[in-house]
Amino acid sequence: MASDLPLTPPPGAAADWTVPQDWASYTPADHATWDTLFRRQVEMLHDRAAPEFLAGLDILRLSRPGIPDFAELSERLYRATGWEVVAVPGLVPDAVFFNHLANRRFVAGRFIRRPDQLDYLSEPDVFHDVFGHVPLLANPVFADYMQAYGQGGLRAQGMDALVNLARLYWYTVEFGLLRTPHGLRIYGAGIVSSHGESVFALDDPSPNRLGFDLSRLLRTDYRIDTYQQSYFVIDSFADLLDQTRNTDFAPLYAAVADLPTLAPDAVIPQDRVLHHGTQAYARRMPAA
Ligand SMILES: [Fe+2]
Repeated sequence: MASDLPLTPPPGAAADWTVPQDWASYTPADHATWDTLFRRQVEMLHDRAAPEFLAGLDILRLSRPGIPDFAELSERLYRATGWEVVAVPGLVPDAVFFNHLANRRFVAGRFIRRPDQLDYLSEPDVFHDVFGHVPLLANPVFADYMQAYGQGGLRAQGMDALVNLARLYWYTVEFGLLRTPHGLRIYGAGIVSSHGESVFALDDPSPNRLGFDLSRLLRTDYRIDTYQQSYFVIDSFADLLDQTRNTDFAPLYAAVADLPTLAPDAVIPQDRVLHHGTQAYARRMPAA
C-alpha cells in the first residue's frame, strides 16, 4: 500500500487496480527463479516457520512447477478460506488495498526478480507476495485476521491513523514471530520470503524479541532498508485476531497520538522482553 499514489488506476488496469496476471508471458528463466527460491526457502523453513505456514504451503503446489497461475491458486485458496489472489501492477493506494483485503482478495505483484536479485529486492515481487503471504491465507484464523485488518484500514481512513495501522501490518503480517512449544517460529511474509532474515530473525543476537503489545506496536517505527531491529512475538493467531477484532481502535489511536513515537530498537519498561538485542548488526548497517 502507499499513501502518495494517484487514485486513478494506471493504463491497462481495472477500476480496482487489478491487471491480468498473463501467466503465459513468464519465461522459462522466470519459472526457474521461482523454483530456485521455493526450494531454498522450503528447505530453510521446515524447522523455522510457524506450523500454520508450513501446513499452508501445500496450497502453492499446483499442477505445474514454476510461478503459480493465480486463477488455479485462487480456486484452491477460495475452497480453503474464501480468499483469492489478484494481480496488481505494483503498489496500490491505501483505500484500494484495504478494500481488497476487506473483501478477501490479496493483491500480488506479477513480476519476478532477476536471477541476480535472489537475496535482495526493494519492491515486493510475486515470490514475496505469493510464497510469503498466501500459505497463511489458507489458515482460517489468519484469513479472518487479514480481512479484519482491511476492514480496520477502511475505518481508519480520515482518523489520521494510517501510519499507526501500517505498523500493525508491518510487525505482524510482514515481520511477525509466533511463540510455540518448540520455540519461536516465523510467520511474517517479509521473513519467510528472505533467505537471510529467516536465520537472522530467530538466531541472531542483534534484534530485540518482544511480546506482542498492540498499543506499543502502533507507536513503533520500523526500518525498510535492512533487517528489523525488533520483532514482536504473538502467543497465537487466535489471540492476534481477538485483540484486533475486540479493540476499539479509535480511542487507541487518540491515546497513541499523545505519546512519543518509539525508535525501531527501543525497549521500554512495559515490554515483555524475550530477548534484549545487542543491535550489533544494526550498528554495522547505519540507516540509509
Ligand atoms: Fe508483503
